[in-house]
Amino acid sequence: MKSIDWKSLAFAYQKTNYNVRCTYRDGSWSKPEASTSEYLDVHIAATALHYGQEAFEGMKAFRDKEDRVRLFRWRDNCRRLQASAEGILMAPVPQELFEEAIYKVVKLNAEFIPPHGTGASLYIRPLLFGSGPKVGVSPSDEYTFIVFVIPVGPYFKEGFKPVSMQLVDDYDRAAPQGTGSLKVGGNYAASLRAGVRAAKEGFAAPLFLDAKEKKYIDEAGPANFFGIKDNTYITPKSDTILPSITNRSLMQLAEDMGLKVERRPVPVEELETFEEAGACGTAAVISPIGRIYDRRSKKEYVIAKDGKPGPVSEQLFKTLQGIQYGDVNDKHNWITIVE
Ligand code: PLP
Ligand code: COI
Repeated sequence: MKSIDWKSLAFAYQKTNYNVRCTYRDGSWSKPEASTSEYLDVHIAATALHYGQEAFEGMKAFRDKEDRVRLFRWRDNCRRLQASAEGILMAPVPQELFEEAIYKVVKLNAEFIPPHGTGASLYIRPLLFGSGPKVGVSPSDEYTFIVFVIPVGPYFKEGFKPVSMQLVDDYDRAAPQGTGSLKVGGNYAASLRAGVRAAKEGFAAPLFLDAKEKKYIDEAGPANFFGIKDNTYITPKSDTILPSITNRSLMQLAEDMGLKVERRPVPVEELETFEEAGACGTAAVISPIGRIYDRRSKKEYVIAKDGKPGPVSEQLFKTLQGIQYGDVNDKHNWITIVE
């Protein structure tokens, strides 16, 4: 294995030893098999390729001081993949199969799990798609479930430093009664134009508005949004955002810290009043938001006036990462040790 500079890892693909694959055919799933290939032999008429019948997950494994491997809330990712499957009529992956596949792929790639203290982690990417042929628009009869892993560093190159985001009103990632609450590939395809333009214009990510009224904050391209003010953690309630497991964890930790928690529509004008803001997700963990530029009104909301993360975001970040790396008591039982 080539040596890895753990501390300077980006959030990027690299080859690891194995991925794990299985197939659903004639009503049942095959056993997950390890593969060293990075490629698939897929039918040219697979529904994933034509009609976007595809969903994925993102979760992480961490090493603690004792060198044990810790999975964070994997059952929640499994449930969400099942919800995505149900939403676009794919065969759901049973929890026992999901568990077997992620344990297998993590163990087979143990040498890629970053050491404790490096700030890096192993990103686990489960992927489910319609692999059987259909040319008329209908769900596949066959599904493929794959899990691969990559060692990763921070999603935003800034790490735990405030980033600038761009509020957009001329692209939507999801329709009001569409698939925004599912983790399906189509939502990400729909977000690419806004994401690439935001990067070109100097922003870390786009911040999408609710697609119906364009009045409320929905979420960032790859992460949920939260704001902090008056000892309160505020995060959008919307049917078109991904129900983030990180956000759910932060709401609990905020409550533990004695903050009030509000999940409700967040009007754009309220940005003016936040003492802190952040984007949260498995890949992003917490990315503090220093500045939000509204592309439509050309108004700029400066949140981190001193250019530093706020104290509440910092405390949330430290506690969440502390639990993940085993340095803070896991009182909500979010961690499973891979034996
Ligand atoms: N929102 C979007 C669009 C995402 O892609 C992600 C990443 O998974 C999140 C939010 C955060 O969700 P989670 O915390 O479950 O990773
Ligand atoms: C994650 O945080 O796991 C994501 O999936 C975000 C992005 C890489 C799609």
